Amino acid sequence: MQRRELGAGGPQVPVVGMGTWQTLDVPEGRDDVVTAALDAGSTFVDSSPMYGEAERVLGDALGDRRDEALVATKVWTPDDAEAERQVQRALGWYGGRVDLYQVHNLVGWRKRLTLLERERDRGTVVAIGATHYSPSAFGELAEVMRTGRISAIQIPYNPHERDVEREILPLAEELGLGVVVMRPLGGGRLVARAPDAADLEPLRAFGVETWAQALLKWVLSDPRCHVAIPATSRPGRMRENAAAGAPPWFDDDARALVARLAGARL
Ligand SMILES: NC(=O)c1ccc[n+]([C@@H]2O[C@H](COP(=O)([O-])OP(=O)(O)OC[C@H]3O[C@@H](n4cnc5c(N)ncnc54)[C@H](OP(=O)(O)O)[C@@H]3O)[C@@H](O)[C@H]2O)c1
Repeated sequence: MQRRELGAGGPQVPVVGMGTWQTLDVPEGRDDVVTAALDAGSTFVDSSPMYGEAERVLGDALGDRRDEALVATKVWTPDDAEAERQVQRALGWYGGRVDLYQVHNLVGWRKRLTLLERERDRGTVVAIGATHYSPSAFGELAEVMRTGRISAIQIPYNPHERDVEREILPLAEELGLGVVVMRPLGGGRLVARAPDAADLEPLRAFGVETWAQALLKWVLSDPRCHVAIPATSRPGRMRENAAAGAPPWFDDDARALVARLAGARL
């Protein structure tokens, strides 16, 4: 598993981490997937109070392996008192420390950044970030990036969602910000139907065995991206995804091939 610096001076993160939207929103827990992620080196895990039970389930599953992980979560509310509660709950679940605390969907971002800065001063939050899934919010995201108050962003990037190439990725590079990539598999839509094995043949030289790995390598072959966070409910798929986190990375031709194959998937 390759590791990259999450922004200038930021922590070293494994290039394949794990998301938790839907997959960890399960009352009975999902220790097997979290254990598979940690064992495979996908130790960067992302959650949010927006994901139902996921934050709690993740904390439970990490258990006494909490210190092996870099935990990213989010604050997501327009209400100040609820924001405080979300942060205190998360700190309770994650052993008193969140490694990357993000403002989810930029909700109330000025006040939320002040709250997270206070926690950072207390030593309970290591790095602060902001996330948005929609290109319609990328103008505001760029404004937040330029404040100098965050060190990482989380954005969608896959062969079907390339809007970040216009302004967000160049700006992140210019400002030295870390980039966490959500929806690397297109929310599951891109992997629902894999290309034929023959179509993937030219990618085998890059260590690709499956279509999901091809999509992850497509993201990670852009050096401006530091960690992709595919979500899965299946331990075997977690191991498969983690295996995409090692070089060699795609050249321009291989990247173009994956984009062409992805274009035929919808
Ligand atoms: N901040 C935001 O606004 C925001 C928005 C969206 C997402 N996110 C974050 O980004 C993470 C990832 O995004 P996402 O969950 O929307 O989508 P994703 O990771 O692109 O795709 C997840 C889907 O792909 C399937 N999958 C995973 N690995 C696979 C494999 N190797 N082969 C075949 N199918 C596979 C999963 O199904 P199975 O469970 O059946 O494997 C799941 O349905 C989220 O979990 C969340 O942490 C943030």
